[in-house]
Amino acid sequence: MQNLIIRGGRRLGGDVSIHGAKNSVLPLICSTVLLNGKSILHNCPALTDVYAALDILESLGIEWSMSGSDIEIISKHPENFEISEELMLKMRSSVMFLGAILSRTGRAVISAPGGCRLGPRPIDIHISALKKLGAVMRESGGRLIFEALNGLVGTEIVLDFPSVGATENIIMAGALASGVTVIYNAAREPEIKDLTDFLIKCGADISGGGTDTVVIRGVNRLDCAEHTVIPDRIEAATYMAAAAATGGNITLKSVIPNHFNAVSEVLRESGCEINCSDNEAIISAPSRLDAVKAVKTRVYPGFPTDAGPMILSALSTARGTSVISESIFENRFGFTDELSRFGARVMVFGKVAVVDGVNSLSAAQCNCTDLRGGAALIIAALTANGESTVGNLCHIMRGYQDLSKNLRMLGADITEM
Ligand code: UD1
Repeated sequence: MQNLIIRGGRRLGGDVSIHGAKNSVLPLICSTVLLNGKSILHNCPALTDVYAALDILESLGIEWSMSGSDIEIISKHPENFEISEELMLKMRSSVMFLGAILSRTGRAVISAPGGCRLGPRPIDIHISALKKLGAVMRESGGRLIFEALNGLVGTEIVLDFPSVGATENIIMAGALASGVTVIYNAAREPEIKDLTDFLIKCGADISGGGTDTVVIRGVNRLDCAEHTVIPDRIEAATYMAAAAATGGNITLKSVIPNHFNAVSEVLRESGCEINCSDNEAIISAPSRLDAVKAVKTRVYPGFPTDAGPMILSALSTARGTSVISESIFENRFGFTDELSRFGARVMVFGKVAVVDGVNSLSAAQCNCTDLRGGAALIIAALTANGESTVGNLCHIMRGYQDLSKNLRMLGADITEM
């Protein structure tokens, strides 16, 4: 699939089932490096980032197979402790193998990870935490070589910033370390609780996953478990934004609505009606949204940075001026140059975007610049008058399974070319 051809202007309606969370399944796959035996992860999305993680697992000598949305992984002591530069560059989450490999083998060799270009994405918090756990690091030819030949030793770690990936890395490193690791100012995203729930099933002694203080008492051995990945709250937010932008009415199935409360609140402010039950959310949008005064992205449970672009795109045809401030990434709004091809009026001042709602968007040819920015462009094309072309879909395939198929089922006029 090279491009999406979208003839916009149709209101979306119907049901859509949300897949398992990309940001959960990736650390879960990394964590299987710590285990022994056959684990089964249910509800895994078929995404290029997931395949990239599985490629890394394979390069460590760990076997896996995928059947539908089930991934079976046969864990054992890895045959290798190095991740090639090529595999590291495939995604940002490759860095999340670091804690698990180091903890399991006493060594790990990686290089700087790839991922969306949302500004500088250093891994200093990961590195300094692993050093606190006793790892020694040196650099050679662009490779980062970590050693903890006598094993990692638990300690107290205060994170400067509640980094999601660093929290996950430390949890995995601490799971097989000797002694107790305590993470203060830990990230609280639901995907972290999903990781600790899985590791606890495998025999880990962890409390506080999903809160700002996580206590990990190292154990000597971890076995394996079956686990169902939680629903993807950002995929859910994407369909909600698409419904909001097109004046649609859709039902999200297989979701945990509490996980996207902050997104629902903003959409309600813009005039949408949202009704939630245990695992369903129904969004009904007015024919034109109202602008929202101030959306500020924050760490969980705040408004997620990953949902910012799609909401911005929906607000580009709202009545009035909306302001979205980003607090996590430097270049979250990089996609807005492409969005302006549709006639959207967006001014970006550093990490603040001011969106002056226009009456309508007109069709354009554009290219995805990153995963969520790409989803935002697809939403713009769904509302625009005429036939748009969205290219560079490799970004979309990193994070959305069946996006065009689902949008078509919801009534969009969308063709893959
Ligand atoms: C995860 C999510 C990503 C989401 C992000 C923020 C996964 C696989 N990805 O990414 O979708 O956008 O959380 O919610 O779960 N930082 C440092 N030094 C570090 C680590 C992070 O400065 O060592 C900075 C980053 O550059 C960024 C901010 O902290 O500005 C957030 O990063 P972090 O929470 O670590 O995000 P990721 O785990 O990479």
